[in-house]
Amino acid sequence: MSTPQRGKLVVGNWKMNGSAAANATLLAALIAGWRARPDRDVALCVPYPYLAQARDALGGSPIAWGAQDVSEYASGAYTGQVSAAMLAEFGCRYVLVGHSERRHGCGETDAIVAAKAAAALGAGLTPVVCVGETLAERDAGQWQEAVTRQVDAVVQRLGADCARTVLAYEPVWAIGTGRTATPQQAQDVHAHLRLRLRGAAAAGVPILYGGSVKAANAGALFAQADVDGGLVGGASLDAAEFLAIAGA
Ligand code: 13P
Repeated sequence: MSTPQRGKLVVGNWKMNGSAAANATLLAALIAGWRARPDRDVALCVPYPYLAQARDALGGSPIAWGAQDVSEYASGAYTGQVSAAMLAEFGCRYVLVGHSERRHGCGETDAIVAAKAAAALGAGLTPVVCVGETLAERDAGQWQEAVTRQVDAVVQRLGADCARTVLAYEPVWAIGTGRTATPQQAQDVHAHLRLRLRGAAAAGVPILYGGSVKAANAGALFAQADVDGGLVGGASLDAAEFLAIAGA
């Protein structure tokens, strides 16, 4: 079920990359190269230690910033974790939750991801909830079951508050592999996700595509009716490439 064309959101996910010096160069190039557009929102999700650097550089610019993970807990004996309230203190607008590198690399379950989304909303942040099937699930014809399970866990936990989230479809087989979902493959999954969100009256949430997004393929992906922008990994570390994607 497609919806009318909305503005696009393009989020860079630096993952565990960067250094104070490299970030300064990249941030300066992005600030110099990006002009605010009414139909575009741009944000960068950076490693925790660089949140202050992102805030200091991007404050007052049209580029928002955020983090790549958040604790499901508010405070207490959770060594190494970072709360949503702490992220809010650094001016974060967004936080990724349920990235496949955390679901599969750190054992995050659907329930944990949903709890993290709730924690983010509770602190006034917008969670970017990532879902996506593995290569084995895609090859077995089971993408629908996989993403349905992931999105339904969030819908059940958040109910109508789902309308305040962003969803990102990132097929695991397309992340960092150079193998992008075709625009039609992305559209099929996005349309399915939008239907699932209807139950929570959240069919209008932005649904981003992620997985080997590049300047060369962003235009065709973003042209799909239910693709509301992108979640960009590797290409977000290259200013010219990321600016081209953001403007696609
Ligand atoms: P790549 O763009 O490097 O494939 O990474 C996608 C991703 O995981 C963004 O969150």
